[in-house]
Amino acid sequence: MERMSVTEVCAGIQLPGHLHTPESLQYAQDFHFKEGDVVIVTYPKSGTTWMQEILTLIYSQGDTEIAMTVPNWERAPWLEHIYFKDTLKEGEGPRIITTHLPSNILAPALQNSKAKVIYVARNPKDVAVSFYYFHKMAKFLPDFNTFSEFLDVFLEGKVHYGSWFDHVKGWYRQKNNMDFFYITYEDLQKDLRRSIKKLCGFLGCPMYTEEVDKVECHCRFPEMSQNVMVNYMLIPKEIMNHDQSKFMRKGIVGDWKQHMTPEQSDAFDKTFQEKMSGCNLQFLWNLD
Ligand code: A3P
Repeated sequence: MERMSVTEVCAGIQLPGHLHTPESLQYAQDFHFKEGDVVIVTYPKSGTTWMQEILTLIYSQGDTEIAMTVPNWERAPWLEHIYFKDTLKEGEGPRIITTHLPSNILAPALQNSKAKVIYVARNPKDVAVSFYYFHKMAKFLPDFNTFSEFLDVFLEGKVHYGSWFDHVKGWYRQKNNMDFFYITYEDLQKDLRRSIKKLCGFLGCPMYTEEVDKVECHCRFPEMSQNVMVNYMLIPKEIMNHDQSKFMRKGIVGDWKQHMTPEQSDAFDKTFQEKMSGCNLQFLWNLD
């Protein structure tokens, strides 16, 4: 339960002190990536856990044993977290490393490496809703009384982990500077099987049809949300309170429509146009 109310600041971005210290952040910035490392980069609530699970299953050729016995934070630890140094294992397969750090902090180290980078983005209206509920359950994040209050701070880019807009734009700009694969949460939702196959191609990890079947089956929301190794039910209630909201909450595209008023949605669109001008990324706001 340590450092629950501490906030660290790194390059102007606030991060929960429960998971980060000045030392862990420095370690992340000095980290030497090796050839073969696979780095999952996301803004929070964009499908990080989903990608961790998919990669675990791809590298086990569809065998679910590791996914069902080792927590995701051990299989694919966060580079910037306090426990990273002691968790990262030198095993047989590639090291899967996760990070939420923005490109201005981490891209230089990755540009000079042969690591593979997988960036997962999600439409920011759904990110905002998912992040709001995460603030309710994660006791190391600040409390917001209402969604409206949270939304204002999210659009200003002043929430913990910084601006969604800067994160996505910053990393996308790096696409030609490193071995980079861009995919969205909505791509995974629309066609999980196709996404898995594309990932296999990027990773140079061919799979038999039956193995892809297994990955696909295990990584669907109903199955994954029951897996205690990824649904965070192993974390004590004082740190993550699942009575407030589940970590595996809804797992759908377009939940923002149940949460934003037309005025909030319009204001969001306006900010999106302003902040994303000059960036040709398209987002899918619903699957209808
Ligand atoms: P919701 O809160 O909208 O349900 P992250 O892992 O980056 O923190 O993202 C968490 C979000 O991804 C949550 O979104 C969670 O439900 C969703 N998610 C995780 N696994 C998923 C899966 N297999 N299918 C669909 N959504 C998934």
